[in-house]
Formats: sequence, structure tokens, C-alpha cells
Amino acid sequence: MNAVQSEACVRGAYDAVADTYADHFRGTEPELPIDIAMIASFASLVPVPKRTIDAGCGAGRMLPVLARLGCDVEGFDLSPEMVRRARRDHPEFPTRVGSITAFPNEDASVDGVFCWYSTIHTPDAELATAFREAHRVLAPNGVLLIALQTGTGVVDVSSSYKRFGHQIELHRYKRSPAFMGDVLVTAGFALESEFSRRAAEHERDGQAILIARRAS
Ligand SMILES: C[S@@+](CC[C@H](N)C(=O)[O-])C[C@H]1O[C@@H](n2cnc3c(N)ncnc32)[C@H](O)[C@@H]1O
Repeated sequence: MNAVQSEACVRGAYDAVADTYADHFRGTEPELPIDIAMIASFASLVPVPKRTIDAGCGAGRMLPVLARLGCDVEGFDLSPEMVRRARRDHPEFPTRVGSITAFPNEDASVDGVFCWYSTIHTPDAELATAFREAHRVLAPNGVLLIALQTGTGVVDVSSSYKRFGHQIELHRYKRSPAFMGDVLVTAGFALESEFSRRAAEHERDGQAILIARRAS
């Protein structure tokens, strides 16, 4: 397995599995109530008028969740096929193709950035770029959420898609909240909260959710 996957490879993998992913994860079935509570906490911290970007929105399942929590939400994703499904399944929300390493948004134009497991394929060397981009598009006091799997090393997720008939190469990184927190602080954020929990029965790894505010 190649330890560093290019954005083109990640895009290709998600393009191939987009319909399978969107059919399988329609709502928040995989999330625990405490995860939803963290999302609600994030939404409450996003300053008014709560313009919020779901960065790496996939097929858009979190767009209505954020909207119900009062966010004025739009999304983008690296994979055009994921965006096609987001537009089909959630046509009431604007979505477009874009990367967290070059947000398709103006400077200081949003109040919240929501990265729900969308930095898990980004190599360490590109994380700082992604967080600097989130910092650039956030207005002063804007709030960022990052959800991730915890631990160390690389996990091959290709096998999860084999039973659906997909032959793709895709892996994700496990990281410590402390490491992610350090990269966030270096990018100009102040950490507001750091939540981590053990893996639930249906999960392979522990999970963490970091909430940070644009500090400078
Ligand atoms: C595990 S899925 C999560 C999708 C969505 N957030 C959800 O919870 O259903 C990871 C998503 O991140 C997207 N992604 C990966 N790298 C990205 C990047 N550099 N920029 C934007 N999206 C990216 C993938 O295309 C995929 O849709």
C-alpha cells in the first residue's frame, strides 16, 4: 500500500464508490448521540450569521443536520461524483467541487467550517495547508470542527468496499488529538474543546472531535 495518496487518487476512489457510499450512509446512523451533541455544540459556537461550510461534505448527509441546528450551510467536496449525489439527495443546499487544500471561498467570508472526517485522507505534510485555508476563509472568531479517527498509522479502507464490488485503493490516517491540536494552533487557531472516545461496536478505531476558534 502506498503510504501517501495524491488528491487525484482519493478523488478517483470516492468517484468510484459515491453511489455505494451515499446509499449506505443516508443520515447520521453511524454517529453516536454524543457525536451529535458535539455537532450541536459546534453549531451553537458558530457566530451569527452562521455562514457555514461543510468542507468535504461527501454526499451531503450532514448538510440538513447543520441546517436544523441553525447554520446557513453550503458544501464542497473533492469528488465530483459525491457532489453529484449531494445535489441529487439534498438539492436545497449549494454544493460544489473543491479541496480543503484550496478552499473555494473568499477570505473571511464564513463563520464556521465543518470537517467531518474529511481530513482523514490528507497526508501530514498537507494538513497545515488545509488548516491555513480554513483560517483564511473564516471571519475573526469563526469556528472550525475536525472529526477524525484516533491512533497512529495508516488504515486500508479499500477492503470495506470490496463486498460492494469496488476495486479501489484508499487509505486513511489515524492521528492523535494532540498532534491535530498542534497543527491547528500553528495555523492560527485556539483550541476550544477536544473530545475523544473509544471505538463503538461498529467502528474500528477511537474517534475524536476538535473544536477550534480563529485566534488571530
Ligand atoms: C469519509 S468521507 C466523509 C464524507 C462526509 N463528511 C460524511 O460524513 O458523510 C470523506 C470525504 O472527504 C472528501 N475529501 C477527501 N479529501 C478531500 C479534500 N482534499 N478536499 C475536499 N474533500 C476531500 C472525500 O471525497 C469524501 O467525500
